[in-house]
Amino acid sequence: MKIIEVGLGDRAYPIMVQAGLLEEVGPDLARRAVGKRYIIISDDRVAGLYGAKLLESLKSAGLDCEILTFDHGEVNKNLSTIAELTRSLARLGVDRKDCLVAMGGGVTGDITGFVAAIYMRGIPFVQVPTTLLAQVDSSVGGKTGVDIPEGKNLVGSFYQPRAVYIDSNVLASLPFVELLNGLAEVIKYGVIYDRQFFDFLGNRRQQILDLHLSVVEEVIVRCCQIKAAVVEADEKEGGLRRILNYGHTLGHAVEAASDFSIAHGMAVAMGMVAVNTIAVGKSLLSSEDAQTISDLIADFRLPVTIPGDLDKKLMKSFLKTDKKAVAGKPFFVLPTCIGAVTITDDVADELVDKAFS
Ligand code: GLY
Repeated sequence: MKIIEVGLGDRAYPIMVQAGLLEEVGPDLARRAVGKRYIIISDDRVAGLYGAKLLESLKSAGLDCEILTFDHGEVNKNLSTIAELTRSLARLGVDRKDCLVAMGGGVTGDITGFVAAIYMRGIPFVQVPTTLLAQVDSSVGGKTGVDIPEGKNLVGSFYQPRAVYIDSNVLASLPFVELLNGLAEVIKYGVIYDRQFFDFLGNRRQQILDLHLSVVEEVIVRCCQIKAAVVEADEKEGGLRRILNYGHTLGHAVEAASDFSIAHGMAVAMGMVAVNTIAVGKSLLSSEDAQTISDLIADFRLPVTIPGDLDKKLMKSFLKTDKKAVAGKPFFVLPTCIGAVTITDDVADELVDKAFS
């Protein structure tokens, strides 16, 4: 098993990566004694796939456990689901010594983490991410929360899990398009932090797309190492952590302007290519490096152009209301080469127009 430690002092926690780890979650939780009772929270789809297996792992380790489900989909990442889940926990008599187990993709992790953060002013939780995107990004770092009609993730908190259990085997049941969504975030890590990893992705592209588990595990481990290092340096996104938003500022605008018909990873892929044109326009990045990044994104069958029918004015308006914008001014994460970035809010309007084109 590979273990990556997220070094956050008294809130430090391990990320464990291993094929077949789902079966080991129960014994490991029993050893760590994170809670006296465990409540698995999952959506109806993932519960159908892995609920019985995880319950069995916990029960056979002698742990007292239950499962609660909610309807799948980003549309249910809202305050009503939070109200329902917290009321269910209260009815079950869950208290501060009990522990929640988030089993699923990013939506489940965000919802469960937020419930854990606010129920009885905070109870422990662990993450069992089942999508590549959640395994390499959202399950690590403690961002939790839900959407409101006024915007995505506008209500939430930073609240760290006690452990993250990553079983690469579960990716076999992931729809291919969801694998691609995760791969956009994977490429992001190479561009913002690690040229060698970027090259590794190019060299192992086919094995990754074919889900060769040992290669995919290497990918997950490297992403988690990078994410852990960034979060350790800046847990609450006051500075360095903002580099993880490479491709996201323009990507979020694309997602929102498409009324979320374009998935997050696809939008991030478009956002990375688009923001590179700003970096080239500001003479921070060479055209050759920008092309190399676009080529890798395309090689992973991800989109490199923003659909022409998306309203550019609308996309620009979403930039101003992005929750990371300050006084209506968005910031942009701009690569200076493959493996390093800089952050600025000093971007001329014409360059933003060019990026959206
Ligand atoms: N997904 C970006 C972050 O966790 O900061």
